[in-house]
Amino acid sequence: MIITHTIEDFRANRHAEPGLTWGLVPTMGALHAGHLSLVRRARVENDRVAVSIFVNPTQFNNPDDLARYPRDLDADAALLEAEGVDLIWAPTPEIVYPQGYQTTVTVAEVTKPLEGAHRPGHFQGVATIVAKLFNVCQPDRAYFGQKDAQQVVVIKQMVRDLAFPLEIVVCPIVREPDGLALSSRNTLLNPTERQAATVLGRALSAAVDAYDAGQRDADTLRKTMTDLIAAEPLAHIDYVSAADPVTLEELDGPVQRALFSMAVFIGDVRLIDNMTVGNEPAA
Ligand code: PAF
Repeated sequence: MIITHTIEDFRANRHAEPGLTWGLVPTMGALHAGHLSLVRRARVENDRVAVSIFVNPTQFNNPDDLARYPRDLDADAALLEAEGVDLIWAPTPEIVYPQGYQTTVTVAEVTKPLEGAHRPGHFQGVATIVAKLFNVCQPDRAYFGQKDAQQVVVIKQMVRDLAFPLEIVVCPIVREPDGLALSSRNTLLNPTERQAATVLGRALSAAVDAYDAGQRDADTLRKTMTDLIAAEPLAHIDYVSAADPVTLEELDGPVQRALFSMAVFIGDVRLIDNMTVGNEPAA
């Protein structure tokens, strides 16, 4: 496994063997089993696998969140080496955004609700860094987790609109045995908060169960989730949503398919999670 930092060094290694397919797993490091599930899928589907590790400052709307985001390149590299990853790109902010940098990518409608409404500028930061990662790494396939459901919708839209020549592969959420979705931010929870954080998975499962039992009213399904979270003293709702999985517009009245999603503060750690019901949206 080769660890690179500069664009030139990454590209030299990426193009060293002509004709091979490459899978890219973009990450911000602090790797967990969710990331490793993406790496394993990429390993199966490509000749070579690259992982980018970059805590992208422009997608953080809260400076404290950026400052305390966990970082450990040595631990990440050890995990990736064990998974048979071929190449890492771990640039510095100065390499990605050098002096004089002035270009951004804006995806319009699908960035407006949900995370976009609560984290101004977040998706412009995400779209811009992902576009740059695609240009630098030139993968045949790029792997993203369904946990960031809106991010997946935004990136697919950008890839369609700008005709990036690659396939986006979306992998299922990996959960702890008690249902907590894996997240790098989980390491910031103290033991009491960690226990309280199971409320996200429980609330989403309750909405899925209600849907499966025949409940189709969007407001009632949202209330199922909010009532459960309100009963957890350490939880504070940022938003709870039952939205169309393709347009991400909030649903009203009877629901055929839905993306149930939420952002909830547990103490001062903001967690997101989601589950989908009804027909899967087309890729
Ligand atoms: O999902 C993430 O970890 C980040 O948003 C990504 C895609 C690596 C861009 O910084």
